[in-house]
Amino acid sequence: MPIDKQEFRRVLGHFAAGVTVVTTVATDGTPHGLTATAFTSVSLEPPLVLVCVDKRSDSHPHFHTSGLFVVNFLAVDHEHHSRRFAVSGGDKFAGAAVRTGSLGLPVLADALGYLECRTVTVVDAGDHTVFIGQVEAADARDGEPLVYFRGAYRQLAR
Ligand SMILES: Cc1cc2nc3c(=O)[nH]c(=O)nc-3n(C[C@H](O)[C@H](O)[C@H](O)COP(=O)(O)O)c2cc1C
Repeated sequence: MPIDKQEFRRVLGHFAAGVTVVTTVATDGTPHGLTATAFTSVSLEPPLVLVCVDKRSDSHPHFHTSGLFVVNFLAVDHEHHSRRFAVSGGDKFAGAAVRTGSLGLPVLADALGYLECRTVTVVDAGDHTVFIGQVEAADARDGEPLVYFRGAYRQLAR
């Protein structure tokens, strides 16, 4: 018997997570993206990562059709990016410094790090889809991460 949904959410909230904005692109070239903490590295050889995307999100179909995604790691001063990309609708990219990466997808110019990925495996998992991608380009810079813990944005203690 599965545990109660509210209790599941409450307990999951006690796992501190880095915050990402995962971007992809529609077939007409429109950029899409969402805030996601359900990201993890999977394999070093080959280099694989995964992200879990809610089937109800507007971005979801575009992850399927493009077969590509970029994981942008947010820095401590990027709470505004997280909030904007966590709401469906509107032009989330308006006003954001964005460049086009090597796979043709939007990359946040000031991301703490980014991974440009080509989807290699898609797993149906309850109300989410797991997209596993091979990393084809990546970089990172110095800086402090944005952290999400118990429903609030945090920063690392010094
Ligand atoms: C801190 C935080 C973490 C989130 N993590 C995820 C996640 O891992 N996967 C997901 O599908 N949605 C996640 N969401 C919710 C999406 O960001 C939200 O549903 C968004 O509006 C989807 O955008 P879209 O409908 O334009 O695709 C998260 C939201 C927040 C605030």
